Amino acid sequence: MKVLTHPLITHKLTKMRKIETSTKDFAQNLDEIAGLMAYEITKDFPLTPVTIQTPLIEMKTFEVAKDIVLVPILRAGLGMVQGIRNLIPNAKVGHIGVYRDEETLEPHEYFAKFPNNLPEAEVLILDPMLATGGSAAAAIDMVKQRGATSIKLVCLVGAPEGVKHIETLYPDVEIYLAALDEKLNENGYIVPGLGDAGDRIFGTK
Ligand code: PRP
Ligand code: URA
Repeated sequence: MKVLTHPLITHKLTKMRKIETSTKDFAQNLDEIAGLMAYEITKDFPLTPVTIQTPLIEMKTFEVAKDIVLVPILRAGLGMVQGIRNLIPNAKVGHIGVYRDEETLEPHEYFAKFPNNLPEAEVLILDPMLATGGSAAAAIDMVKQRGATSIKLVCLVGAPEGVKHIETLYPDVEIYLAALDEKLNENGYIVPGLGDAGDRIFGTK
C-alpha cells in the first residue's frame, strides 16, 4: 500500500473532509485529487519506443506501452473519472455497480460493463472510500473474472481493516491512498473520514 502525500493532494483532501464543504467543491476537489493521484501512479508505467516524424525530422521517442482502463465503482467512483481522463484521454472506462448493505456491510453487485481490452490493460479501480474492503474485493473479483492481470486500486481514504482485507486476498493488487485513517466506527464508516462519499458528491443527503 502506498499513501500519496503530495501537498496538493493533502490540501484538497482536507477541504473534502470539512463538514461545511459544498457538494460542488467536494466533487471538484475529488476530481482534482484523482488527477494528481493518477499522475503519481503512472510515473513508472512502461514506455515503448516509436519512430515519428516531426515537422523538421524523423525522431525516435516513446509512448506509453499499455492501454489504461478506468473502472469506477458506482456511485462514488464516478467522481474520480473525469480528473483522470483529463490526463489520459484515451483511457477506456468500465463500470461496476456495487452497493454496501447498510446493516450487514456486505457488498451487492448490480451492474457491470467493461471494454474488451481488460486482459492486456493496466486496470485502475476507482473508489474514494476503502472501508471494510468488501466493495473493492467484489470489484477486483469482477475484473479478474474477465481476464485483468494488472490491477491497481485507487482510493482516497482507507481504513486499516480494508487495506488488510485487500492485501490478504489480493497481494498482487497495489493499493494507492491519499490518506490512511484511524479506524472504522460501529456503522462501518471511516473515522475521521469524510462521511458518505456518494451522498456528498451527488447531494443525496
Ligand atoms: C461506499 C463507497 C465504497 C464502499 C466502501 O459506497 O463508495 O464503494 O461504500 O465500503 P466497503 O469498503 O465497506 O465496501 P456505497 O455502498 O455507500 O454506495 P454509493 O457509492 O452508491 O453511495
Ligand atoms: N462509504 C463511505 O462513503 N464512507 C465511509 O466512511 C465508509 C463507506
